[in-house]
Amino acid sequence: MKKVFAFTAAAAMALSLVGCSSSSSTSSTGVSGTFTGTAQGNGGDVTVTITLKDSKITDVKAEGKDETAGIGTKPLEQMPAEMVDGNTINVDTVASATITSKAILEAAKAAIEAAGLNPDDYAGTSTSASAAEDLTEDCDVVVVGAGGAGMTAAITAADAGRKVIIVESQSVSGGNSVRATGGMNAAKTSYQDENTFDESAGVEKTLASAADKYADNETITALAATVQKQWDEYQAAPTGYFDSVELFELDTMIGGKGINNPELVKTLCENSSAGIDWLASIGADLTSVGAFGGASVKRIHRPVDADGKTIAVGSYIVPILESTCEDRGIEIIYSTTADKILTDSEGNAVGIEGKGDAGNTVTINAKSVVLATGGFGANLDMVVEYKPELEGFVTTNAAGAQGQGITMATEVGAGTVDMDQIQIHPTVHVDDNGAANLITEGLRGDGAILVNKEGKRFIDEVGTRDVVSAAENSQTDGMAWLIVDQKMVDASAVIQGYIKKGFTVTGNTVEELAAAMDVDSAALVETMSTWNADVAAESDPEFNRTSFADPLDTAPYYAITVQPGIHHTMGGVTIDTSAEVLKEDSSVINGLFAAGEVTGGVHGANRLGGNAVADFIVYGRIAGQSAADYAAK
Ligand code: FUM
Repeated sequence: MKKVFAFTAAAAMALSLVGCSSSSSTSSTGVSGTFTGTAQGNGGDVTVTITLKDSKITDVKAEGKDETAGIGTKPLEQMPAEMVDGNTINVDTVASATITSKAILEAAKAAIEAAGLNPDDYAGTSTSASAAEDLTEDCDVVVVGAGGAGMTAAITAADAGRKVIIVESQSVSGGNSVRATGGMNAAKTSYQDENTFDESAGVEKTLASAADKYADNETITALAATVQKQWDEYQAAPTGYFDSVELFELDTMIGGKGINNPELVKTLCENSSAGIDWLASIGADLTSVGAFGGASVKRIHRPVDADGKTIAVGSYIVPILESTCEDRGIEIIYSTTADKILTDSEGNAVGIEGKGDAGNTVTINAKSVVLATGGFGANLDMVVEYKPELEGFVTTNAAGAQGQGITMATEVGAGTVDMDQIQIHPTVHVDDNGAANLITEGLRGDGAILVNKEGKRFIDEVGTRDVVSAAENSQTDGMAWLIVDQKMVDASAVIQGYIKKGFTVTGNTVEELAAAMDVDSAALVETMSTWNADVAAESDPEFNRTSFADPLDTAPYYAITVQPGIHHTMGGVTIDTSAEVLKEDSSVINGLFAAGEVTGGVHGANRLGGNAVADFIVYGRIAGQSAADYAAK
């Protein structure tokens, strides 16, 4: 964690101070009373109320009802206690939640100024920040990384009766998982059956693609033959919603350009529906099923709010995983970066060693180790090392995605695969503060279109990410506009969040929208009316899109600028279907397991949207169970 007390000019601009208030008394011993400061956070106002007794801080409350649940609320919980503890407003920001953290610091400064005091007099160090000591603990299973895969593995191992400790490099849990917006792919779920099947064209297109492009790929050809048979049978006697484990495998293999490990894909798809049930068993219901890029049918499962609006999956699931960890008595050691896997004389993994942010050494002795450190999408040097053409790209990744798990694993002999397969997501919005924000693919699945600076569509918006990104890169300035209408906004709390954050321009008519976007009005009017006619006809002669929702005809209209950004690193350590980490020669490293983005092979050359959550839930559960079984030997 970094001390951020002297604010940079950029931070000051981003965190415009919006107010302060007070109720106080001053005596010869100092100022007493409560003082409030407000600053702009990530979602809205963040307010800090400081209580002083004789100029000493005795209580601090931080509130920000619009901050992202989990990732954004952590600093609201953590930083006030440190301020009281050290009689200071110079406390560490919480990594991965820097905007909320900086708003808290700015609001605290305003509160101190409202008391008529000098913030520089409250710049000491909090005692808790400097108190870290070397630590050694013993457990059955140590999990490295408190993202989706790590917490899922930890809960599974704890449910199998093992003592589990998680070590997390950041000061909050969630990793990249908390940023996941879309949902989780799963095949043959009861939620799919609640939908009317209208995706025949999607199935036909996939079967045609298998035959045209992958005739020499044995796995894809065999899967396509099975799916063709299932499809023929369904058409002869349709019941329920058409999907199958094999169609999910086929989509995932075609999405990955056929280089995925077929056994890992099979395990992912076979266990996806059980993953949805497991999430429901811990209180995370993904009930709304939608369309996503590269999926032949509706398969992505999303949470909804009390009004039935779809909400972001990561910030919904992660707090539930956190509270389930807490219920199971799993200790999470934060702000500690594991940098070594401990091995015995036979090379079996027997724990980890790492460094706390204060420089202290943390040693966890365990009977088995689960690596769930995520990928390396935030380590731009490493990205460029494996894919030089990505120099200068923005990233959607959380700060902790540094690839340290891959380094640790290779140091004990692990093999790696597909390290140069790095996914670019086509809809990343760079906001006024220069931050890269993922704009979920769900918008396109639900009916949004992409248009270029000339006001024209240029691609099937629900194609795979590599194809859509490449098309976008070849448009003027390598960017596009994503367009939605009010009907879509009404159905999605996620889009409402984008509007609230100021990402959109808007118009009451298409002409007004064109003016706000600074694109040719006649061209945009023509694009929108052609698109709405295509939706009515369920046919897209120009780009062959097969997934249609409602026409974009309900004013007002909204548009967001988007560009490609680094999103997912498909490569990583090699594992088998039991999540055991493998050496270069495919032999097993005893006691070492891995799950989630630290692994390679599941997604091949391109991950489908919705398969990251499926991956971390399915393989998180498998790794947790395997590590628990190994620890019991
Ligand atoms: O666009 C998205 O919501 C991303 C989803 C994913 O990468 O799985």
